Amino acid sequence: MQMQLLQDRIRKDGQIKEGNILKVDSFLNHQIDVSLLQEIGKELKRQFEGKEITKILTIEASGIAIACIAAQYFGCPVIFAKKTKTLNIAGEVYTAKVESFTHQTTNDIIVSKSFLHAEDKVLIIDDFLANGKAIFGLSELVRQAGAELVGAGVVIEKGFQEGGKRLREMGIDLHSLAIVESMDPATGSITFRKED
Ligand code: G4P
Repeated sequence: MQMQLLQDRIRKDGQIKEGNILKVDSFLNHQIDVSLLQEIGKELKRQFEGKEITKILTIEASGIAIACIAAQYFGCPVIFAKKTKTLNIAGEVYTAKVESFTHQTTNDIIVSKSFLHAEDKVLIIDDFLANGKAIFGLSELVRQAGAELVGAGVVIEKGFQEGGKRLREMGIDLHSLAIVESMDPATGSITFRKED
C-alpha cells in the first residue's frame, strides 16, 4: 500500500535532478518534516501489523531520523549501521560492503555484535531504495547475527531501478510507501506505481 500524503508531498516539493536523482531535502533528508515522519512511522507500523519486531535496523545518515520516529510506534530500539572506510575493529562487529551507485563510493558498514543477536526479529528501514545495495548490506548483517529478517520498509523506492525487484525476488517482505515509476527533469512530472 502506498501513501497518498507522501506522494502528494513528493509531487509538490521533490526536485528532479540530472542522473535520475530525486531531491527531497526540504522535507525528508536535510530539513525534516517531523509530522510527515510521524505519518510515515504510523503507516509502516500498519504495514507490518501483527509482526513481532524487536529491533529496527537502518544506515546512517538519512535513515536514522525516519527509523527513530517509526520506532516510537513499534516500541523497539533502533540500531544504525555505521559507514567506515577503515575496517579495523575485526571480531567485534558484523560487517558488509555497500557500493553506492549514486555517490560512486564503497563503504564497509558495521554493527556492533553487542546490539544484534540471534533471537532478534529485525525490520530494516531506509529512506531510498535504488539499486538495493544498502538494504542488501543490512540484510547481510542480520544474517551474520543469525537473527530473523522480518521485512524492510522504504519511504521512496525508485521503481525504474533494479533494487526492489531483486530484494523481492530474494524473498524479502518489502514495503515501499511511494514507488516512483518515472520522473522527467524537463517537465518536473513524476508518476507513481499504482500498487506495490
Ligand atoms: P541503493 O542503496 O539502493 O543501492 O542505492 P544507491 O547506492 O544508488 O544509493 C546510495 C545513496 O544514495 C543512499 O544514501 C540513497 O539514499 C541515496 N539515493 C539514491 N537515489 C536517490 C535519489 O534519487 N535521491 C536522493 N535524495 N537520494 C538517493 P546513503 O548512502 O544512505 O547516504 P545518506 O544520504 O543517507 O548519508
